[in-house]
Amino acid sequence: MSSFGTLFRVTTYGESHCASVGAIIDGCPPGLALSAQDVQSQLSRRRPGQSNLTTPRDEKDLVHLQSGIEHGVTLGTPIGLLVKNEDQRPKDYSETDLYPRPSHADYTYLQKYGVKASSGGGRSSARETIGRVAAGAIAEKYLRQAHGIQIVAFVSSVGKVHLPSSRAPSASTASNVDEEDDEAEDALSPEFRALLEKVTREEVDRFPTRCPHPETSDRMIKRIIRAKEANDSIGGTVTCVIRNVPPGLGEPVFDKFEAKLAHAMLSIPATKAFEIGSGFRGTEVPGSKHNDPYVRRENGNLGTTTNWSGGVQGGITNGEDIYFRIGFKSPATISQEQETAQYDGTPGTLAARGRHDPCVVPRAVPIVEAMAALVVMDELLIQNARRSCQLTASTQGYPTSAREHNGRMQIHSVK
Ligand SMILES: Cc1cc2nc3c(=O)[nH]c(=O)nc-3n(C[C@H](O)[C@H](O)[C@H](O)COP(=O)(O)O)c2cc1C
Repeated sequence: MSSFGTLFRVTTYGESHCASVGAIIDGCPPGLALSAQDVQSQLSRRRPGQSNLTTPRDEKDLVHLQSGIEHGVTLGTPIGLLVKNEDQRPKDYSETDLYPRPSHADYTYLQKYGVKASSGGGRSSARETIGRVAAGAIAEKYLRQAHGIQIVAFVSSVGKVHLPSSRAPSASTASNVDEEDDEAEDALSPEFRALLEKVTREEVDRFPTRCPHPETSDRMIKRIIRAKEANDSIGGTVTCVIRNVPPGLGEPVFDKFEAKLAHAMLSIPATKAFEIGSGFRGTEVPGSKHNDPYVRRENGNLGTTTNWSGGVQGGITNGEDIYFRIGFKSPATISQEQETAQYDGTPGTLAARGRHDPCVVPRAVPIVEAMAALVVMDELLIQNARRSCQLTASTQGYPTSAREHNGRMQIHSVK
């Protein structure tokens, strides 16, 4: 369906070439200072036409707040917002009346609904993500103000060009791998961990690729331009880190925090893969090196000395940074000629016209941040609801079992 979230619930609407796209956000706490600019800054990072690495479709994507806010403050009632579709050229897509674009959603939408939007990707277009990005910006403002939560995403690879410190293919994937090699270093390099701890949105935005590493970014630009000049496209990965998330968020067993994150991320168009923490690389090292030992933090809480878990254990946040990576495929619409078949099965050649992204990852960065914010916000409200009516032991010491808990009553909420 078109809604996401339980207590912070976002419903998006709109197709690629209809009058407008937007969202209704239900469950936003009242009293949050909110302006159109708070939302616009993230929408502008997502909008098309930002550089020669993205689609030339020229949309300003100006947000119009419709409801739920008065005198710059949220009312607690549903927030409605919309963005007009202005630079529409439906005629650019006439060949898709005949041909379902290979690996796009034209054929599957038609199979599902028996009818489809006549131009562009319709509902499967990335125009839909405007509503999510706007909703995510609102959630993020609350999370930042109430809890100091920071969310930063960046491009970690384009094609085979990887950030040097990230998980580029290592020697361990080569055929001459030594089965007795249990080294953990490659799972997540110290440089990459340092980047996750410190990287800021400002640093990311210094580069048109949104890869915060000058040499890698230059190589990524060359790779994207090469795809573009060949009338082709290329994929990539986005890595995201969420800092200062309180422990205790996530709803076992089916709505584990990482399951919600994966759901959120894999709902973004063109996504093909999701991994959290050490991910697939973590499977290569033994438990003795992969475990995250505990240590007492300055504030008296337990922390961990390493973070292969990616901040989530048992589906519940543990207070460490949450980091994950998403794989985006090479966009389906390419103007290179492709042998394929028309809707009626007649073989033919398609060279798609229209304006398209040669690589989606630079524009996917704010979408990933938005979906991360929606997950944290929803889980925070759910945990607050539980905590506000929870019977706990006194604040003197933490109960380690139901036996110690002994039914002493105190009500508190997540700080
Ligand atoms: C920011 C962004 C921009 C996109 N731009 C295009 C595009 O220009 N051309 C295209 O074919 N797909 C583009 N996509 C991907 C399609 O929307 C998507 O591949 C399509 O709906 C099929 O869905 P699926 O790939 O999730 O299976 C974009 C995705 C994102 C996240």
